[in-house]
Amino acid sequence: MKNHDIKKLDNNNYLDYKKIRLELLLDNKESFGSSYEEESLFNDEFWMDRLSKKNVHTIGAYIEEEIVAIIVLVLNVRSKMKHVATINSLYVKPSYRNQGIAYDLLKYAENIAKINGVERLNLSVVDSNTNAIELYQRFGFVNYGIEPDTIKVDNNYYSLSLMSKKL
Ligand SMILES: CC(C)(COP(=O)(O)OP(=O)(O)OC[C@H]1O[C@@H](n2cnc3c(N)ncnc32)[C@H](O)[C@@H]1OP(=O)(O)O)[C@@H](O)C(=O)NCCC(=O)NCCS
Repeated sequence: MKNHDIKKLDNNNYLDYKKIRLELLLDNKESFGSSYEEESLFNDEFWMDRLSKKNVHTIGAYIEEEIVAIIVLVLNVRSKMKHVATINSLYVKPSYRNQGIAYDLLKYAENIAKINGVERLNLSVVDSNTNAIELYQRFGFVNYGIEPDTIKVDNNYYSLSLMSKKL
C-alpha cells in the first residue's frame, strides 16, 4: 500500500480536478446529481472558478503526483446556517479503494469544518450504496431520513439516504 498525500486544491490544480470529476461522473451515473454529459462541456474557466470559491473546499488525495480521490466540503454562507456544512462528491479511484483513503479525506474535511466553526455535517447518498453508507456510519454519520426518487437515470429512480454528524 502506497502513502497518499492530502491537500486542498486551488485553481492551479484544475486539470487534476477536471480529470477525476469527469471520471466519477462517468463511472457512477446513479451516485451523483450531475452528469458527465453536462460537465464535459464546461470550459477551463469554469473548472478554475469552481476551485476559487471561498466557501467550497475541494480536497484531493495524491499518490506519486496522481490524483486518486476527491471530496468536497461546502460551508454555508448564510449567517443563520454557518454552523452546518455539507459533504459532497466523495470518490476514490477503484484500484485505490479499501485502504482508508476515503476515511482520511472525511477526516481532513471535518477538520476544515471544525476550524470554521461548523457544528454539524450533512450529506446524502444513494440508499443502495451500502459501501458508502457503512463508511459514513463508521465515521459517525447517522441516517435521518430518505428523499425518494431524487435521481433518475435511464428511467430508473434512486432515493437518497440523508445523513448527519454532530461534531
Ligand atoms: C465509497 C468510497 C468513497 C469508499 O472509498 P474507500 O477509500 O474504499 O473507503 P475506505 O478505504 O476509507 O473505507 C472502505 C472500507 O475499507 C476498510 N478499510 C479501511 N482501511 C483499510 C485498510 N488499511 N485495510 C483494509 N481495509 C481497510 C474499511 O473498514 C471500510 O469498511 P466499511 O466501509 O465497512 O467501513 C468508494 O468506494 C467510492 O469511491 N465509491 C464510488 C463513489 C461513491 O459511491 N461515492 C459516495 C457518494 S455519496
